[in-house]
Amino acid sequence: MEQTARNKESNIVLALDFPFEKSENCGSLFSKAEHVLEVVQPYICAVKFNRHLILPFGTFNGVQELVEKAHDMELMTIMDCKVNDIGSTNKIIAEYYYAAGFDALTANPFVGWKEGLEPVFDVAHRMQRGVILLVYMSHKAAKEGYGQTIRHSETAEKVLQYVSFAEKALKWSADGAVVGATYPEKIREIHEILKETVPIYSPGIGAQGGETAAALKAGARYLIVGRAITRADKPAEAAKNIRDTARRF
Ligand code: XMP
Repeated sequence: MEQTARNKESNIVLALDFPFEKSENCGSLFSKAEHVLEVVQPYICAVKFNRHLILPFGTFNGVQELVEKAHDMELMTIMDCKVNDIGSTNKIIAEYYYAAGFDALTANPFVGWKEGLEPVFDVAHRMQRGVILLVYMSHKAAKEGYGQTIRHSETAEKVLQYVSFAEKALKWSADGAVVGATYPEKIREIHEILKETVPIYSPGIGAQGGETAAALKAGARYLIVGRAITRADKPAEAAKNIRDTARRF
């Protein structure tokens, strides 16, 4: 990712998300996704997929085509599937997404290591792919889960949930940590723990109210941007503007 961002001179990850369409309109949904990817690609380093395209199109013979297109454009690809099940199921989820070509996927550290995310990291290492952990989400209610004070499972000391997740990101050698751009103070605090070892991916710019400058100054390395680009009248212009602002920091 670091190399790609350098080559592309951009640290913007496009969230290729679109509103719900009925099945009869899915052909045009696919064309729209293809079009936005094509016009925006000069200004981004990666594309992030979510249920918005996986549910209507699936993996093989579905979004795989878009993943391949992104790779032809020398972009990285992330599946934002937030893996969150028992290990045997998580392993199969990871195998399908990696087999479809995704370079990395997102996972929820809440499920823990043994029979949780260990099998996902095993598959990722075997296939030389990445795992990006949720550490503090971007939405309003994030504090209800990520902001809770918990008792550490090993030391029984009181600790904030997101601090424990950041520590797991280091311990498990995760390839990235997701921290919402809507909480620059959390980015700063989590960056203090992760330093440059685990890069912070920050969603929530634009549509959710997060700001490019604040997120980057606080320590975010990559910015994830969806609706501010995909729903803009001119997606390429919108992406270029965000990329240009990001470059100043
Ligand atoms: P918007 O349109 O808000 O899209 O720019 C953001 C994209 O990122 C996803 N998202 C998150 N993914 N942790 C994640 O792993 C988060 O905290 C988070 N916040 C937003 C969102 O689903 C959309 O695809």
